[in-house]
Amino acid sequence: MNEQHVVAGGAGFIGSTLVRVLLRKGASVLVLDDFSLGRRDYLGDLQSDPRLHIEECDVADRSGIEAALRRASSRARVAELWHMAANSDIPAGVHEPDVDYRKTFQTTYELLRACRLVGIDTFHFASSSAVYGDHGDVELHESIGPLLPISNYGAMKLASEAQLSAASEAFLRRANVFRFPNVVGTPATHGVILDFVRKLKSNPARLQVLGNGSQQKAYLHVSDLVDAMLVVATSACQEKVQLVNIGPVDAGVQVRWIAEQVVSRVSPGATIEFGSEGRGWLGDVPRFRYSVSKLREMGWAPRLDSEHAILRAIDEISVQEGF
Ligand SMILES: NC(=O)c1ccc[n+]([C@@H]2O[C@H](COP(=O)([O-])OP(=O)(O)OC[C@H]3O[C@@H](n4cnc5c(N)ncnc54)[C@H](O)[C@@H]3O)[C@@H](O)[C@H]2O)c1
Repeated sequence: MNEQHVVAGGAGFIGSTLVRVLLRKGASVLVLDDFSLGRRDYLGDLQSDPRLHIEECDVADRSGIEAALRRASSRARVAELWHMAANSDIPAGVHEPDVDYRKTFQTTYELLRACRLVGIDTFHFASSSAVYGDHGDVELHESIGPLLPISNYGAMKLASEAQLSAASEAFLRRANVFRFPNVVGTPATHGVILDFVRKLKSNPARLQVLGNGSQQKAYLHVSDLVDAMLVVATSACQEKVQLVNIGPVDAGVQVRWIAEQVVSRVSPGATIEFGSEGRGWLGDVPRFRYSVSKLREMGWAPRLDSEHAILRAIDEISVQEGF
């Protein structure tokens, strides 16, 4: 791999991990990030690599992206664009839908528009299990429907998928839509483990959990996630828009268990207080069962199941937060 790739949101949790792997595989990379949540530090040691360019850029801003992609194209042809930028705070988007309209949808719309103008024809998109909505215990295959998201975040991810489908009719040669589960690891910018660790940092005696702890979800370590994306990106593709669920093969773990593990690692003896509702917040899907058979047919399997991904991430995030 010695082509140029663009990673929008490349200074964030998943984006910075992806950039690290792309550079390791020989690509040169342009990171576009507005640093609203991502940080240059997350690219740490990589910043001295001459194959890495980092530009501060709001990818919902039309003129900014177009100029950045033109500069990149003048250095070398841009082979592929990875869109990893979005609003990561789902509850915030429930209270203020504009956040998801701009960060989760408009970023996709404007990036696709700019790709068409500068001639980038391969687009990889970080979508989410949130597009499915709440189907209870029904196993979620890529073809299940109707898709009725219950958060603005999920709605704007689904709208982005639709926009990608239209773009692939117009100009894209290849579009991959990755539907992520809950992803854990470092550098953590958000998520359940970081939330628990920070709460215990400010009050080592008590951990307050959103919801009654019975929410059960699948978790994937970020190293497995990036590995899976690259397997899909390099696979022979029969479909114009390739939709792929990425996740572990197990049924997931309960939030109650995660809280107990974080307490025992960070603040043994702390009291755990649960809420009364079966979900954490408005728009939270309390349980989902993911089918990853399509990904398995491509020959991919995760190294860590949900339980081990969580345990490893608790260690990593505890160290990140100074424990
Ligand atoms: N982490 C998960 O569990 C998870 C689950 C499902 C989907 N996803 C999706 O994966 C992608 C990466 O998520 P993450 O967990 O790394 O989140 P993150 O917040 O760490 O990374 C997102 C990055 O995008 C940047 N960004 C946000 N708005 C921007 C804008 N307008 N212009 C430029 N940069 C902008 C942020 O500064 C950040 O660096 C997102 O699209 C997210 O919706 C993540």
